[in-house]
Amino acid sequence: MTHVVTDNCIKCKYMDCVEVCPVDCFYVGESMLVIHPDECIDCGVCVPECPAEAIFPDTDDAATPFWLELNKTYAERWPNILQKREPPADAKEWDGAPDKFARHFSDKPGSE
Ligand code: SF4
Ligand code: F3S
Repeated sequence: MTHVVTDNCIKCKYMDCVEVCPVDCFYVGESMLVIHPDECIDCGVCVPECPAEAIFPDTDDAATPFWLELNKTYAERWPNILQKREPPADAKEWDGAPDKFARHFSDKPGSE
């Protein structure tokens, strides 16, 4: 059981989720964050903290196998993030934009 970060995090990247996670299991890419599935204790406190509503439990339909795999893969490649940073200046404009993964996902690591 884990929670999963999904499409709407991309280019919003508010990072409020990082502040509340009791086990520090968020990892940072250039365009989004992911959750390490083996570290998440499924507490759910990050879900209401995300202004972009991008986090779901793996029991939710939004947590598709694609997103489960992406979280797992990049949690192994990107650095752990322990503190909220300044979100992108245009974060609000990207909230709800379609096809963010296809258009704007970056596999590059972000800064911790
Ligand atoms: Fe962290 Fe809890 Fe969210 Fe998992 S569900 S990422 S443990 S805050
Ligand atoms: Fe992304 Fe929401 Fe966290 S936009 S960085 S999952 S607060």
